[in-house]
Amino acid sequence: MSTSIESVMNEVRVFPPSDAFVAQANVSGMAGYQAMAQAAQTDYAGYWAKLAREHIVWRKPFTKVLDESRAPFYKWFEDGELNVSYNCLDKHLTTQPEKIALIFEADDGKVTKVTYRELHGRVSQFANALKSRAIKKGDRVIIYLPMSIEAVVAMQACARIGAIHSVVFGGFSSKSLNERIIDAQACAVITADGQLRGGKVMPLKHAVDEALALGGCDSVQSVIVYRRAGCEVQWNEKNNVWWHDLLNAQPTHCDPEWVGAEHPLFILYTSGSTGTPKGVQHSSGGYLLGTIASMQWVFDYKASDIFWCTADVGWITGHSYVAYGPLAVGATQVIFEGVPTYPDAGRFWKMIQDHKVTTFYTAPTAIRSLIKLGGDLPGKYNLSSLRLLGSVGEPINPEAWMWYYTVVGQSRCPIVDTWWQTETGCHMIAPLPGAVATKPGSCTLPLPGIMVDIVNESGDKVDDQHGGFLVIKRPFPSQIRTIWGDPERYKKSYFPDEMQGAYLAGDSAQRDADGYYWIMGRIDDVLKVSGHRLGTMEIESTLAANPLVAEAAVVGRPHDIKGEGIVAFVVLKGVRPQDAAAIKHIAEELRKWVGEKIGPIAKPDEIRFGDNLPKTRSGKIMRRLLRAIAKGEEITQDTSTLENPAILEQLKEVIK
Ligand code: WTA
Repeated sequence: MSTSIESVMNEVRVFPPSDAFVAQANVSGMAGYQAMAQAAQTDYAGYWAKLAREHIVWRKPFTKVLDESRAPFYKWFEDGELNVSYNCLDKHLTTQPEKIALIFEADDGKVTKVTYRELHGRVSQFANALKSRAIKKGDRVIIYLPMSIEAVVAMQACARIGAIHSVVFGGFSSKSLNERIIDAQACAVITADGQLRGGKVMPLKHAVDEALALGGCDSVQSVIVYRRAGCEVQWNEKNNVWWHDLLNAQPTHCDPEWVGAEHPLFILYTSGSTGTPKGVQHSSGGYLLGTIASMQWVFDYKASDIFWCTADVGWITGHSYVAYGPLAVGATQVIFEGVPTYPDAGRFWKMIQDHKVTTFYTAPTAIRSLIKLGGDLPGKYNLSSLRLLGSVGEPINPEAWMWYYTVVGQSRCPIVDTWWQTETGCHMIAPLPGAVATKPGSCTLPLPGIMVDIVNESGDKVDDQHGGFLVIKRPFPSQIRTIWGDPERYKKSYFPDEMQGAYLAGDSAQRDADGYYWIMGRIDDVLKVSGHRLGTMEIESTLAANPLVAEAAVVGRPHDIKGEGIVAFVVLKGVRPQDAAAIKHIAEELRKWVGEKIGPIAKPDEIRFGDNLPKTRSGKIMRRLLRAIAKGEEITQDTSTLENPAILEQLKEVIK
């Protein structure tokens, strides 16, 4: 294993859960955890089958548990039939119809509460509305909505009729939307006129119009528009329809469509190491089981909890821990339309106080920016309702962890640092908070039944305290089933031959002497910018598509708030401009271009221009050199294979 993924970890603090927390936990003490892990070791299929019977209401019970005969195209509970929306809504109608399912807080602070009975009615009604547009089982529906009750309703309604949704984050551009519509061959797009964030109205439907105008979207028969912001929209009579018009006169009863456990519940596009995002396809039964089990184990879910996951439904976290997991266990959850800094950086803390949130789940990037903007603000609010805190999306630095623990959690709440991915569907490595003591910066131990290991490039186990590739050795219910329309890419990306059949996560990690996992970062060309996954290749090919650009290389560098920042090295087609103003102007233009083509989150923090890029004699770009330059490090690495060493000096120049 190369030394570049040796860890510098030397964190020694350990935080065991309090006796009081252990006493009330769903899984109490290490003995509880170990018994479960042991049960999975002893009878792997039996372990998952038992959980699937306990947690899911099956229309038709499964008789087969795991089919590995078509590996790596694994099937779980294949002959069982269920409906995910039934499991999230109907299941609760007899036991807790009047319990609040959603507490929606709008950007302006207005609060709307929806009970399970009401949500069931709204989902059923919208499911009927989808059917009235001839949308049926297996059809793909793009959801491009702001955080709203309607976003959850739209996802659940698709699940109810067996349509496959693909949520596209509202911050993605029309070009990204266009590519996803084409790849999924979607028959409908559900959007809103605009969105409200930080006191501002931002148009949204406009991007859908543009996406369709880019061409290739003949599959789209309906554009359903939820009126949220009251802003002007262009209207195409041919296929545009208002959400409220469509809903009118639809009955609030809709029989769920029973589907096989392997029926795709959704596709979610995410970045990989090539220029095109991959459509991660999830199943119905296995995925649902993963979200429920992790709600119980990692979030230690209790009926009295007020759960709040701050993720947008455009990301996997907003699927598993907003749209599905919390509803499947019958939780009351908060959903938030706005931004954490509006009207000030105390918004999250005020909302925790106002709604008496017990379980709060957010990203390290949000924590870091809130420390910076008002590290003492949590102290101004009553946060005594909190009992558990969570972190997701990127490694959390011990400093931010300690602030989260002491200032937000008042040294009372365990922190669950949850490692997982779009592809894994639910948490994979995370503390069961009443069992596993935490260490700042470590996601601790695998969930019981998840067989994680660290291996070298040949797939062989490496010793503890040595860096290596993180793999999951056995198939698990909630995992990705394939890449939509590209099974070969699925095999190549996640099950390369060298890994001996294990799932290759794409992260490097190490295990310490206590068996705790420490994630060190991606091993591929994927960046984590504010917790969002972005492929460097995606940004490179976007830059290269600009008429001014001959060639581009993109690398990440550490960033105080965002975790990783983006640095682009660009070779222009014409003569390289020399004066600072001209360089700045082009850089700004290119940043804007990337924002328009992918989305604002992909804009490079810095662009540097050179006459060429550092390449080997065979023409390969030497990214490790670019990474060093981006970080401002001295280049101590071997440059003997470099075709054009002089270029390094040019690229080191920073224009302020
Ligand atoms: C990173 C987000 C360290 C990791 C749920 C992974 C993390 C990628 C953690 C997946 C964590 C996620 N500690 N790193 N707790 N959680 N990551 O698909 O690199 O957006 O491979 O899923 O985020 O990102 P994705």
